Amino acid sequence: MHPTDSADHYRTPMEIAWQFDYAIDIQKLRDLYAKAKRQQWDAEQLLDWNQTIDPSKPLVDDRQSAVMQIPFMQRLDAKRRAAFNAHNTAYTLSQFLHGEQGALMVAAQQVHAVPDYEAKLYAATQAMDEARHVEVFERYVRKLAEIYPINGTLKALIDVTLKSDHWVKVCIGMQMVIEGLALGAFHNMRRVTTDPLLRQIVESVLRDEARHVAFGNVYVREAIRDMHDDDREDVAQFAFEAMRYMVEANGGGRRRGQVNMPDPTYTRVLENSDIDPADFVRGIMDALGEGFRPSRAVGALHSFRDLMMPSLVRVGAVTPRTRALFAEAQIRIYDDTATLEALEDADFEVRPGTDDHENPTAGRA
Ligand SMILES: [Fe+2]
Ligand SMILES: [Fe+2]
Repeated sequence: MHPTDSADHYRTPMEIAWQFDYAIDIQKLRDLYAKAKRQQWDAEQLLDWNQTIDPSKPLVDDRQSAVMQIPFMQRLDAKRRAAFNAHNTAYTLSQFLHGEQGALMVAAQQVHAVPDYEAKLYAATQAMDEARHVEVFERYVRKLAEIYPINGTLKALIDVTLKSDHWVKVCIGMQMVIEGLALGAFHNMRRVTTDPLLRQIVESVLRDEARHVAFGNVYVREAIRDMHDDDREDVAQFAFEAMRYMVEANGGGRRRGQVNMPDPTYTRVLENSDIDPADFVRGIMDALGEGFRPSRAVGALHSFRDLMMPSLVRVGAVTPRTRALFAEAQIRIYDDTATLEALEDADFEVRPGTDDHENPTAGRA
C-alpha cells in the first residue's frame, strides 16, 4: 500500500466462533461488560466542540518533546520550530486517528472470533468505544493543519494483527502491543498539550482504554494458561515478532543506534516545516554520536517498558523459549506491572519508573 492511498482491502483467515450456551462463566468479564455499558459517553454532549484552538499558542509544550531537545532542532529559527510543533502534533494526532480505526476493526474481529459468550458482549462495547475514538480524533484533527497518512510501522502492526489466525493473537496484537503504544502516547499527549479540548478528549479516551487493557489481561491470561504447549509457543512467537518489529522500526534492539530515514509519511511534516529531511536525520545521528540522551520529562510514560512488555509477561505470552529470542535480539524484558495496574484502575496519575533507553525518534511512531 502506498502511504497516500485512501483505501486498502484484503482477506483474512480468521476463524469464526458461534456460542450457543449463553453461559456467563467468567465473572470478571461480566463485570467488565457492565462497567463498559455504564461508562458509555457521547462525544457530542460531553465535549465542547465550539472551543477554538489558539493558533498563536503551540499545541504541545516544546520543552517536553524529546525531538525538540536535539541540538539541531534547538538551532532552528522560531518560525520553523513553531511550524514543526504544529505539523508534528497534527502527525501524531493523525496516527491516533488511524490507530483508532484499526482498533475498531480489530474489536469487531474479536466479537466474531472470541469463543465465549460474555467475551463477545464485552468486545461489542469495545467496538463502540473505538468508533467513538475514531469520531473524536477525526473531528479534532480536522481543526488542525491536515490529516497525515498512516505511519508504515503502525499500519504493519495493525495489519499483522488483523491477518492473524487466532483470537489470542488478535488480543495480543491489539490489547497489548498496539494499545500499549497508544496508551503511552495518549498519556503523554494529555501531559504535554496546552489545549483544554485536546486534553479532555484524551482523558475521555483513556478511561475507555483502561477497560480494554483489563480485558486483555483477564481473558487472555486464562486462555494462554489452558493452551496446548505448541499453541502457546505459536502465540509467544507472534508476540515476539510483533515486539521485535516495533523495536527495530524505532532504531532499537540489535539495530540500536541506527537511524533510519524517517517514514515517508513523516517526511511531509519536515517539508511542511521547511526542514530538510536529510539534515534532520543527520542532526539526530550527530546528537546520538555525541552521546546525546534526551532528559526524560517527569511523569512521561514509556509504552514499551511500562505497558507492552509487562502486559505480555503478565498473561504468559513470553515463554522461556522466546525469552532467549528476546535476549538474542537484544530486547530487554520488563515485568514490573505497577504502571499497568495503576492505569487499569482508570487512575490517570500513573507513576512511571525511571527511563533507561528512550530513543529520540520513538515519538514519531
Ligand atoms: Fe481506542
Ligand atoms: Fe482501545
